[in-house]
Amino acid sequence: MNVARQVLRRGFDLAEGVLGRAFPPAWNPMLNLGALGFFFYWIITVSGIYIYIFFDTGVDKAYASIEYMTHEQWYLAGIMRSFHRYASDALVIVMMLHLLREFARDRYRGVRWFSWLTGVPIMMMVFIAGISGYWLVWDKLAQYVAIVSTEWLDRLPIFGEPIARNFLSPDALESRFFTLMIFMHIAIPLIALAILWIHLQRVTKPRINPPRGLALSTFAALMVLSLAHPALSQAPADLATVPGNIGLDWFYLPLFPVLETQPGSLTWGMSACFLIIMVAMPWLPPLKRARPAAVDLDNCNGCARCFNDCPYNAISMVARSDGTAFEREPIVNPDHCVACGLCAGSCPTSMPFRRLSDLSPGIDLPDHTMAALRDQTESVALGLSGPGRIIVFGCESGPALADTASATVGVIPLNCIGQLPPAFIDYVISRDLADGIMLTGCRENACDARFGIEWTIRRLARERDPYLRHRVPRERIRTAWAGVSGTRSLRAALQSFAEELKELPQPAPSQGHPRTNPEPVDA
Ligand code: HEM
Ligand code: SF4
Ligand code: SF4
Repeated sequence: MNVARQVLRRGFDLAEGVLGRAFPPAWNPMLNLGALGFFFYWIITVSGIYIYIFFDTGVDKAYASIEYMTHEQWYLAGIMRSFHRYASDALVIVMMLHLLREFARDRYRGVRWFSWLTGVPIMMMVFIAGISGYWLVWDKLAQYVAIVSTEWLDRLPIFGEPIARNFLSPDALESRFFTLMIFMHIAIPLIALAILWIHLQRVTKPRINPPRGLALSTFAALMVLSLAHPALSQAPADLATVPGNIGLDWFYLPLFPVLETQPGSLTWGMSACFLIIMVAMPWLPPLKRARPAAVDLDNCNGCARCFNDCPYNAISMVARSDGTAFEREPIVNPDHCVACGLCAGSCPTSMPFRRLSDLSPGIDLPDHTMAALRDQTESVALGLSGPGRIIVFGCESGPALADTASATVGVIPLNCIGQLPPAFIDYVISRDLADGIMLTGCRENACDARFGIEWTIRRLARERDPYLRHRVPRERIRTAWAGVSGTRSLRAALQSFAEELKELPQPAPSQGHPRTNPEPVDA
């Protein structure tokens, strides 16, 4: 499983890199798969409502009504039909890529099981809704889909009367059956939408809308496709004949030839195995979990920065319980916390300058504390020598940090780059622990902890608390959002950064021990 994940992850990282060169960073489709899924869902809904106005639900008239839309009213209903078809195909593509990407990034185990598990029925419903859509056209393909799927259902010993009988002869097919398909085609996407809402309950501010530029260009691409290759029906269904040569839709129906030719025990068995594996995935094997963030009320003023920065809805602010004058306090829901450390990175008490007391912030990761981070920073700094010393703070999901370490480059891994409070940068530079600092991690807009990179960029730019102090020389800081396959580019960035650092004037010598100079919290 691990090998499959790593191979896929590299594949996705490379694809993101290639698309990153073709699109502005925020538009990269690979980084907007969930949002594109919603975008296609809305297009399918709007175009579906329009088509439904002109669709005749009777078995005899369905085909003719769709032909009318496609040929007579091609300029609107025809285009809507094509939009409906192509957006449905695109939904399958982005959904499957989204699923594989979450797997590749290991964002489906541990407390993240919830989003994965709720994704499974959504995936099934997308396929069932799409397949039922093909019936409604009532052409040769619809006839094929109807026969193969009902014969497949009949292989289960649950239906008294074989339902495939409905499609044996023209007079056997009842309009009632057809109405049932229409009901399914509308009801299932609505249920899927409700489950999508549940799917997003454990992520803060989910990205459900693609950036405007990406939305407009996707819309334009659908339009071009719809005009160049309008969706067409095949010959009308004729229950008196067996459908012969039919063109399959490979997005929704790739398994139909298998269902048609293989024994029911095999196809039902394989489907059941696939479903069981999908459901069990988050526990295959279970994630060895880091302990969740812990609050220390003695050091908390109830400012709610941790609450605002948590990407997984794991923190709530409640009435203060310790009798102090502060109104609120954070509590962490351990079932939601992924131990990313963004909360500790945002806490104003995560101050490495604190002198006598232990560095114990209002919120911290028990397995990766701020105090340990400060100790590690100091000991790594002690090992550096020569001009152009650099400390790299990097996320464990990014480039291979250990491969970049040298006599002048010290590396400090973090759970996520957002775990680093800007005060640490100030601390390193003002205490001359290194000449420069490199921050690295996942690709921009592709943070494994969702907001780590965004919060870091905004903290450095003084747009989001906690701000990086004005006094920190910006020319001594670099960022390299390199991703898991970006070790080489990180090494190159470090090399050129070291050269630049050597050109800078030497900072004033350090004033005694690093911790002997307490600093106020920056405003
Ligand atoms: C139409 C289908 C789907 C849509 C529109 C959709 C949409 C989304 C969106 C918008 C997010 C939040 C992304 C973010 O803001 O970071 C998300 C998260 C997630 N989705 Fe889906 N999803 C779909 C299907 C699936 C399926 C089939 C699976 C897997 C079986 C899945 C697994 C996940 C997981 C594991 C996350 C959480 C990622 C994290 O922990 O950060 N999704 N989805
Ligand atoms: S460690 Fe991450 S998920 Fe857990 S409470 Fe802090 S910010 Fe939220
Ligand atoms: S950021 Fe720190 S001080 Fe503010 S509420 Fe959270 S734990 Fe308390």
